Amino acid sequence: MSGQVPPLAVSGVGFAFPGRQVLADVSFEVAAGEFVAILGPSGGGKSTLLRLIAGLLPPSAGEVKVAGERVRGPRRDVGMVFQKPTLLPWRTALDNVLLPAGFRRGASKAEVARAEELMVAVGLPDAAGLYPAELSGGMAQRVGLARMLLHDPDLLLLDEPFAALDAMTRERMALVLQDLWLARPRAAVFVTHSIPEALLLADRVLVLSGRPARIQADWRVELPRPRLTETMAGPEFNQLALALRRVFDEVAA
Ligand SMILES: Nc1ncnc2c1ncn2[C@@H]1O[C@H](COP(=O)(O)OP(=O)(O)OP(=O)(O)O)[C@@H](O)[C@H]1O
Ligand SMILES: [Mg+2]
Repeated sequence: MSGQVPPLAVSGVGFAFPGRQVLADVSFEVAAGEFVAILGPSGGGKSTLLRLIAGLLPPSAGEVKVAGERVRGPRRDVGMVFQKPTLLPWRTALDNVLLPAGFRRGASKAEVARAEELMVAVGLPDAAGLYPAELSGGMAQRVGLARMLLHDPDLLLLDEPFAALDAMTRERMALVLQDLWLARPRAAVFVTHSIPEALLLADRVLVLSGRPARIQADWRVELPRPRLTETMAGPEFNQLALALRRVFDEVAA
């Protein structure tokens, strides 16, 4: 439908920590069902941008709108996954998924049923009663993905969710995320350092860089889905990866 309100609109956003301007005049929109990856150098302001979108920090300039409303704090219709699993060690995996509902105690029957379904959907059918110390890094991030999806948000925010994992697990997790997203495509902003990960998942890749950081490039990725390990070995994928690498090196230099 034309004229629809975008799930996310970032307009002229700037942000400064005391004595340090981090972001300047960042503007972009994410359409319903659109997966956007953000690439940028370390320390460039990517996590700060996600925290602004999530309502965890207020912008110093400009505004962030989610579903047409100015963001003033965390919202139920926005799900987030952080780089570290951020699981509570004294709660079971299922209870960690239920954290946004006030844990099992505060959750409705429907929320508990949904959490149980999500544990299966992320590939952890037998892990509901395990504690975080009993989970591998990949399993912990699967719990994080399930938690992000608990309230079936229309906007997903992911801050390098797989960065701490080994290469094979990381690739497998990107494919898990792709499956979850394909089951219900929705707006997503996915921060990564990995060009192949961005190309595997995204409809668009934004390159953020500079001091303060601005959006330097906005690329469309037309590869058909589902994208597979074989897709990544193909010539089209590799040409795109190389071209994006050149853009990234140029703007990050
Ligand atoms: N709480 C804070 N107080 C002051 N400066 C901060 C704070 N958090 C981050 N910064 C600074 O803001 C800049 C951007 O940080 P941010 O974490 O957004 O970068 P990033 O792009 O996510 O980096 P990385 O890829 O390493 O995760 C950095 O220079 C960082 O030192
Ligand atoms: Mg970061």
